[in-house]
Parts: sequence; structure tokens; C-alpha cells
Amino acid sequence: MTIELLPFPNVLGFLALFCYILTLLPTNLRIVIPASKKTKIPKRLLQNRRLIGLISFLLALLHGWLLIRKQNFDYLDPKTYWVYFQGVASFIVFTILAITSNDWSVKRLKKNWRKLHSLTYFTMFMVTWHIWAKMAEHWSSFTLIGLSSMGFVILLYLKRRYLEYKANQVKTKQQTTPRKSLSQTSV
Ligand code: HEM
Repeated sequence: MTIELLPFPNVLGFLALFCYILTLLPTNLRIVIPASKKTKIPKRLLQNRRLIGLISFLLALLHGWLLIRKQNFDYLDPKTYWVYFQGVASFIVFTILAITSNDWSVKRLKKNWRKLHSLTYFTMFMVTWHIWAKMAEHWSSFTLIGLSSMGFVILLYLKRRYLEYKANQVKTKQQTTPRKSLSQTSV
């Protein structure tokens, strides 16, 4: 691991990652750490989520573009797509999310909008894999910060899913348990 000045495309990747993490935090924080609501941080992040997501998309675009140019991307060779698979897959999702992050899409897609935007959680794993695979054997301290932050967000997300699963279980139990009739309850 080296502590050195990062190349510009890596700085962009790191900034894209930082903004992306900010878009993932509000919902997860509110559910897993309810006390965080008092700080107003989740609320502020939620209010600005679209803008932050768009900035992340633009930074990722520039990051990917500079690295593809630097590494002489052979567009006709399918192997290239496999080598960059995780980055390209994450970027495709970023693009879909950026295009549909507006009121018009929310109205048009209705319930499907939520489903579509839950793709962001799949990307969480893809981006982590991307950094791990691409930075193998030449980690910098930023790589460590990036991967640890993603690890933290993934743990937060898994805890949230667990809490939601538990809450759902309690709800269905309450719905299926027949209520005691008045005649049974009165002595
Ligand atoms: C077209 C899509 C993408 C391509 C082709 C691509 C390419 C690359 C490459 C080649 C590296 C290794 C750089 C090196 O060896 O120094 C890298 C690292 C990285 N990428 Fe991407 N990437 C893409 C998308 C993304 C996205 C969507 C994100 C984040 C939201 C991202 C974040 C990062 C980060 C944080 C690093 C590690 C930087 C470091 O630790 O110095 N990339 N990427």
C-alpha cells in the first residue's frame, strides 16, 4: 500500500464513489440508526439525493472515459467488456438511474420506479467488486478508505434488510392470528 498523489482518473472515481455513498446513506441510516434522524443529516441527504446522484454519475462518466482512453479500449473485442465488466455494469445502472431521476419518470413508471431504483443496491456490490478487482496489487490509502466505506454501507444495508424482514414477520403474524371474540375474552 502506498501513500502517494492519486492519478486524476482515480480521484474522479473516488469522488464518484463518495457521492454514490451519500445517496445510499439516508434510508439505511434512518432505519438502522433511528437516532441519526435527530442530526437532520439523513433528511438533508434525502432532499439533495437526486443532485448528488447526478454528480456521481458525471464523475463516474469522466473517470471511466479517461481510463478507457488511457488503456486503449478495444470496442470490438468481447474480452475487453469482461475485463471492465463490473465498472461498465455499475455505470449502466448509474446511467439508468440518472435518466429516470425526475418527477416525470416517477409519474410515468409508478410502482416500477421504486423497483428500478432499487438497482442501486445491486450496484453497491458491483462497485465494490470493481474497485477490488481493478486495484488488486496496487492499493493506495484511498483504495482502503473506499473499500472500507463500501463495506460499512453494505453492512448497514444488510442490517436494514434484516430489520425489515423481522418487522414483516411480526406484521404477518398479527394478521394471521385470529382475534379472540368478545365472548371468549369476557369472564
Ligand atoms: C465505464 C465504467 C468504468 C471503467 C471502465 C472503470 C475503470 C477503472 C479502472 C481501470 C480502475 C483502476 C485504475 C488504476 O489501476 O489505477 C478503476 C478504479 C476505480 N474505479 Fe472505476 N471504472 C468504471 C466505473 C466506475 C464507477 C461507476 C465507480 C464508482 C462509483 C468507479 C470507482 C472507482 C474507484 C473508487 C476506483 C479505485 C481508485 C483508487 O483506489 O485509486 N468506477 N476504475
